[in-house]
Amino acid sequence: MALIEVLQGDITVDDSDAIVNAANSSLLGGGGVDGAIHAAGGPAILDECRALRATVLPDGLPTGHAVATTAGRLPAGMVIHTVGPKHWEHPDGGVDLLAQCHTASLGAAADAGARTVAFPAISCGVYGWAAADAAPIAVDAVRRWCELHPSTHVERVRFVVFNDDAQRAFAAAVENG
Ligand code: APR
Repeated sequence: MALIEVLQGDITVDDSDAIVNAANSSLLGGGGVDGAIHAAGGPAILDECRALRATVLPDGLPTGHAVATTAGRLPAGMVIHTVGPKHWEHPDGGVDLLAQCHTASLGAAADAGARTVAFPAISCGVYGWAAADAAPIAVDAVRRWCELHPSTHVERVRFVVFNDDAQRAFAAAVENG
């Protein structure tokens, strides 16, 4: 079973094999962690995202799905882009889609050979989820994926959160699991 940990900080400086980006369906960048990853990683990331849009993802990346690209100049080995649910678009906020972001991202990272994976607090910014609500869903989804993939080489999953509120929420979710 992979180690699950929580750190407070900037995911763009995280040197995990894979870091997860809270993208939007266009894959063409944005603000928040998406903006930070593209700014720090440089144009190579956007070039690959544009190539995906021109080929296998002409309509963009659907919510809950995940796709890997280069990490460009980032210390991480790759970026896994995923699209979280917009809380206001679903009666329950999109619980299943939020969980699916995590399982799809772990699958894409594992398929690309990652042994360590770092997540931001997906959907907990622009997309309107409260960290206290998202954290248990995210942590449980990671745990369930690891239980369903006992032979995976993923050995450490890290939540890299940006503020005290998220740090408390994710630490509590890992503690209470
Ligand atoms: N490192 C780690 N976490 C960060 C960083 C960073 N450098 N920058 C922001 N965050 C945190 C935010 O504080 C929030 O808790 O990431 C969490 C996710 O917030 P958003 O980046 O707004 O992502 P999300 O809520 O999923 O909304 C996605 O926002 O940036 C746009 O293009 C993106 O349209 C997409 C939407």
